[in-house]
Amino acid sequence: MPLVTSKKMFQMAYKNGYAVGAFNVNNMEITQGIIQAIAEEKAPLILQVSRGAREYASNSYLTAIMNVAVKENPDIPIVTHLDHGDNFETCKQFVDDGFTSVMIDASKMPFAENIKVTKDVVKYAHDHGVVVEAELGQLGGIEEDVVGVDDVAKHLTDPNQAVEFVEKTGVDSLAVAVGTSHGAYKFKTEPKLAIDRIQEIQDKLPGFPLVMHGSSSVLREFVDLINKYGGKMPNAMGVPESAITQASKMAVCKVNIDTDLRLALTAKIRQVFAEKAGEFDPRKYLGPGRDAIKAMVKHKLHVLGCAGKAAECL
Ligand code: G3H
Ligand code: 13P
Ligand code: ZN
Repeated sequence: MPLVTSKKMFQMAYKNGYAVGAFNVNNMEITQGIIQAIAEEKAPLILQVSRGAREYASNSYLTAIMNVAVKENPDIPIVTHLDHGDNFETCKQFVDDGFTSVMIDASKMPFAENIKVTKDVVKYAHDHGVVVEAELGQLGGIEEDVVGVDDVAKHLTDPNQAVEFVEKTGVDSLAVAVGTSHGAYKFKTEPKLAIDRIQEIQDKLPGFPLVMHGSSSVLREFVDLINKYGGKMPNAMGVPESAITQASKMAVCKVNIDTDLRLALTAKIRQVFAEKAGEFDPRKYLGPGRDAIKAMVKHKLHVLGCAGKAAECL
């Protein structure tokens, strides 16, 4: 029974001080790189599909690829998750298609409307044995010199609102705004994560699993490789891995990583093209790219502390 919801994973992650990696899937090579790393490290896994991935590859291709990964790894607990579902209908569709977890992202809506749509999704999903993640607050960097301290605080998840939101919706996990943001340019100056805000939310919601989006670290080594081989990524900056590890030991039970996989893949493909100008067989650059994804995921599993934890999550 390797296809699971995240319920047991989050219980174990919370109790034992680690986080489960939620990696974004866009095609076969990315999925294979992730699953090879997971199988070798014996870690629990959340495979997730974003709106961009759905538009690029289609739900049916992505679902089929993920189902093969699940089938071939019966000893690994795997969650199939809808990342950033926009509305009730999208979430319903993924519940109906057999995903075990959906995210309803109504964080841009007013608080009351976010509660309403999340509650509707929770009702439908729970009736079908599926778990739900929602989001509260606005993702964004913490830069006191760019926006005032008060503005920063406004965008972070309010701990009291988080309590009310969880109570009123019955949601299973909550994505919180604690200074992270999507993509490769998270900070303009010093990278900063609001660990104190995670602590405040966790104190008010003891035992409740939190989710951190935008958790790529944009490792210098990979940005440098991309730039060395003809890319242009000035000032790319992510969340320091030490902060990710610290959050993983707290109530953060799911950590979303996409950008770091993109960087690993891009750096490797650029290197192949630069070093073998005559190469035109896609397998000769996508293959090394897949290996680069695998190496990156293996590394991340140790940052999150979930390597070796597959068995206890089954
Ligand atoms: O949700 C954030 C992910 O990095 C996905 O982005 O919609 O461009 O695939 P995307
Ligand atoms: P990154 O862009 O930091 O990898 O975040 C991905 C994410 O949060 C997907 O939902
Ligand atoms: Zn996200």
